[in-house]
Amino acid sequence: MACKNCVVTIVFSVLAILVIQTLQQKEFQISKETQDRKGKLLFSYPQSPVLDLLLKTAAPNYVARNPQDIFDFLRDSYPLPGGLESPLDEYDYVVVGAGSAGSALASRLTEGSKASVLLLEAGKPEMLVTDVPVLAPLFQDTDYAWQYYMERQPGVCMGMEDERCFWPRGKAVGGTSVINYMIYTRGRPQDWDRIAGDGNYGWSYDNVLKYYMKSEKATLKGFDENPYRNRYGVLPVEFVPVRTKLIEAFLEAGRLMGHRTVDYNAPDGFGFGYVQVTISDGRRQSSAKAFLHKHKKRMNLHILPESRVIKVLIDPNTKVAYGVEYVRNRLKRTVKARREIILSAGPIASPQLLMLSGVGPKQQLTSVGISLIKDLPVGQTLYDHICFPGQIFSLNETNVSFTENRDATLPAFIRWLYYGDSGIASPGAVEGIGYIKTEVSDDPEDVPDIELISIGGSIVSDGGPGASKGVRKGMKIKDSVFNEAFGSIDNTDTWSTFLMLLHPKSKGRLELKDNNPFSFPKLYGNYLTDPRDVATFIAGIRHVAKLASTEPFQRYGAKLHPANYRECRMFAFDTDEYWECAIRTLTATLHHQIGTCRMGPAGDPEAVVDPELRVHGIQGLRVVDTSVLPRTISAHTNAPGIMIGEFAADLIKSNWNL
Ligand SMILES: Cc1cc2nc3c(=O)[nH]c(=O)nc-3n(C[C@H](O)[C@H](O)[C@H](O)COP(=O)(O)OP(=O)(O)OC[C@H]3O[C@@H](n4cnc5c(N)ncnc54)[C@H](O)[C@@H]3O)c2cc1C
Ligand SMILES: *[C@@H]1O[C@H](CO)[C@@H](O)[C@H](O)[C@H]1NC(C)=O
Ligand SMILES: *[C@@H]1O[C@H](CO)[C@@H](O)[C@H](O)[C@H]1NC(C)=O
Repeated sequence: MACKNCVVTIVFSVLAILVIQTLQQKEFQISKETQDRKGKLLFSYPQSPVLDLLLKTAAPNYVARNPQDIFDFLRDSYPLPGGLESPLDEYDYVVVGAGSAGSALASRLTEGSKASVLLLEAGKPEMLVTDVPVLAPLFQDTDYAWQYYMERQPGVCMGMEDERCFWPRGKAVGGTSVINYMIYTRGRPQDWDRIAGDGNYGWSYDNVLKYYMKSEKATLKGFDENPYRNRYGVLPVEFVPVRTKLIEAFLEAGRLMGHRTVDYNAPDGFGFGYVQVTISDGRRQSSAKAFLHKHKKRMNLHILPESRVIKVLIDPNTKVAYGVEYVRNRLKRTVKARREIILSAGPIASPQLLMLSGVGPKQQLTSVGISLIKDLPVGQTLYDHICFPGQIFSLNETNVSFTENRDATLPAFIRWLYYGDSGIASPGAVEGIGYIKTEVSDDPEDVPDIELISIGGSIVSDGGPGASKGVRKGMKIKDSVFNEAFGSIDNTDTWSTFLMLLHPKSKGRLELKDNNPFSFPKLYGNYLTDPRDVATFIAGIRHVAKLASTEPFQRYGAKLHPANYRECRMFAFDTDEYWECAIRTLTATLHHQIGTCRMGPAGDPEAVVDPELRVHGIQGLRVVDTSVLPRTISAHTNAPGIMIGEFAADLIKSNWNL
């Protein structure tokens, strides 16, 4: 409870400082030399009306545009261009969802003014606070997220609140890229070549690489001149500005064990490297920032936040999609598309919308009273990336890792404001990525099965008096479980890697709960139902233990913390049985659900969309987001989502001669 206040205070201070800084910007050129002077000036404006307003948060007499939302005036906004009061009745294209993919798609489609686009988004625009990287774990419990939960599955997420797995998704202009951890990964070439090999023409690595590069604005010292990087795109990709010495230990230990230190996004970059992130000047770069912000005044791009689509209108006879129904300000409205409707609502809402509109598995639709237009296996494939954050090593030196109490202080915030480089700019202390192929892998090709996410600390780093406990809360780990397992090392110096299972054999699915568009669908992860997934995790854990036993980590006296879980007491510490139980206790998703509108050529019984992302059997309807990914990839899914948006824009342009 005390901690909630503390978060509010921190958020509040940042806001106040940012506002004052903005107010001062005209009179004051920012230069490093004047840092001290400015530092003082910052606090010499107590009479600023904006600061007054901020300090009076609790005051009842302030009337914001949206009365429940006192900070609304700090929010980004997307007024319709040309002074329009309301959207038009018809557009060339209607895009549903302004997430990673939808923002890129809408932006590219409206380049050159050849087509008009309405972009409908259920969430609100970003605000100053969402730009702060260190706050990333905290948005999952706010208005900026859809708070989905997986259906209860005995034997996983046993240590999470209510024994359920939490599946938040971004709800904002910018989508999940507004609440994610900003890690930038593209996947291994084989991942994409296999997708193409299934008959998905156009999706080979060489081709998707073009689209990754098209977006990218890389500032990666040492790498950005390489032929597979682009320094002149719109999406900033950088290294994190501050790191601990532990990343050097991770890379050095990796080299000792035969893992090259590489650009892990290079085609031959199977190895370990510094994490690359979509952060610039210490601020989050969502896909809305990269693709929409600069084009607010484009006459042919209309963006409507807080507009929730409830149905795609499809003529049941001709099977042509011609419009959508949406709810805005509590009123139901309709808009028509002359050419296409494009669903970019993400891996949970896109399949749900298809089914609500009559496209989905016949039996399921009829059982909830929806009349069938096209029988397709919507929602029947669902893969996710789960990780295990509980293999933690305590260190014998102080001040080597990040801890919130030391690094997320007010002076650090101020430093971040000027230079963008204190601990505040760190995305949850993630510092490195390492790809490994464990000895239990049955993959004939050189493809990793585990990704190691090296943290300059661990899930205990944000504990202690007054700290946010943001990561453990974001994961919804039960307090009792956390305290029993990690209480003795809370808020101390530690190192850990989150082990992420890249290619799970277990497959989940998604189903409609009912025909109410405001209900959440039923989500079945089916985590760890294939024993090979458990074996891969355990092999990964053994590998990390070897890394930690090398000299670079032993320099810090790295020692495996014997976490004690109530659920696992019957197993001796460090046995395979113990680790399986630990993984089933702290089963944390990294939120990469994919596959629910699986792509595949005509005749593929599991396919929902074709290789050009058109819904099979329906005209004028595409799905463009991470739900189309047909197979697991060795990557986090934000950059792939943006790439899908870029690629789809070109597919649509060439279909319609734009
Ligand atoms: C906490 C968290 C951390 C993550 N960290 C990383 C990371 O570090 N790196 C990484 O690469 N990936 C990360 N991811 C995953 C990644 O961000 C997502 O996979 C990616 O953003 C998905 O893109 P998308 O375009 O498919 O969907 P989204 O970005 O989710 O976009 C869908 C949009 O559609 C909107 N929408 C939904 N329904 C409707 C409706 N009915 N009407 C109108 N609009 C609607 C949503 O509000 C949303 O804005 C993370 C995810 C989470 C949740
Ligand atoms: C660790 O850092 C804190 C705060 O920066 C400082 O007060 C303390 O002296 C440091 N301890 C050591 C052992 O360096
Ligand atoms: C930590 O342990 C290592 C290995 O035992 C030792 O060399 C080092 O001096 C220790 N450091 C401290 C600060 O105790």
